[in-house]
Amino acid sequence: MSKWNVYVTRLLPKPAMDLLMKHCNVEVNQEDRVLTRQELLRQVKGRDAIISLLTDTIDSKLMDSAKGIKIIANYAVGFNNIDIEAATERGICITNTPDVLTDATAELAWALLLATARRVVEADNYLRAGKFKGWGPQLLLGHSVKGKTLGIIGTGRIGQEFARMAEGFKMDILYYDIQPNLEFERETSAKYVNLDELLTRCDYISLHVPLTPKTQHLIGPRELKLMKNTAVLINTSRGPVIDEGALVKALLDKEIWGAGLDVFENEPELAPGLADLDNVVILPHIASATIEARTDMGLVAVKNILAAMENKLPPNCLNPEAFNRQKI
Ligand code: DGY
Repeated sequence: MSKWNVYVTRLLPKPAMDLLMKHCNVEVNQEDRVLTRQELLRQVKGRDAIISLLTDTIDSKLMDSAKGIKIIANYAVGFNNIDIEAATERGICITNTPDVLTDATAELAWALLLATARRVVEADNYLRAGKFKGWGPQLLLGHSVKGKTLGIIGTGRIGQEFARMAEGFKMDILYYDIQPNLEFERETSAKYVNLDELLTRCDYISLHVPLTPKTQHLIGPRELKLMKNTAVLINTSRGPVIDEGALVKALLDKEIWGAGLDVFENEPELAPGLADLDNVVILPHIASATIEARTDMGLVAVKNILAAMENKLPPNCLNPEAFNRQKI
């Protein structure tokens, strides 16, 4: 079998690159930055496969300049950067990297929750700025977590794992999704409620939904107003799920107590005023950034390409119809 010609839009961890290079002719973006649109359009020409990132917009125009491409393996579980319908029409198989980043992402959602509730970053900055003059009864008071009510919006793999990790905190868990999940309820004692009830009752609310037209601005001014003024909002999903301008206003007006964010509406830009607030913890989209998860994500992406090369359905194919069309 002749080797496939594969383009990788950003250098991936070594085990993944090694495996890919063993089986394919590989070219990689050598710059430590996201490719420009023009560069991407140029680089995809004549390839059999690409490994793309969530920062690469893979639309019909790009697919048309990548004539002959058989698979685009997205190095992410989320795939809102890809027009799946256009790919299916063109018989291009799209894959993602689920499961291997579930724990890392749920862990980081917890890190954000605890850091926001207990003002960890603010306290660290305070100390480094030389402001710590000794223990004080009112110094940097936060909110306790144990025994509080936790709200989970979106109970896919990551939302469910986030709930399992809550066990030691003995929290009441409410959840909202497009439909109830009885097995999840049995396992975690979580209760299904509608979105407004969740927003009204919860002390901590964590978002774990994919970005779709239906979830864009799922949390806007109305939803923020429904939340308790002691509530903390966590987002490790996709930035546009929250109306970020409305969030800044709600934080300024003390409509909610704090927010922990790993993702932003116009990444890498932040909404004006967000970075000036003390009651937010903001991270540069690192939820899956453990050595283990990022290595495994690379291996998963490569294995999907290798399966396609052997004419087998890639294990994480999001549009099997496209794969079947290739076989006609
Ligand atoms: C994803 O996989 O979708 C994350 O946002 C990055 O790992």
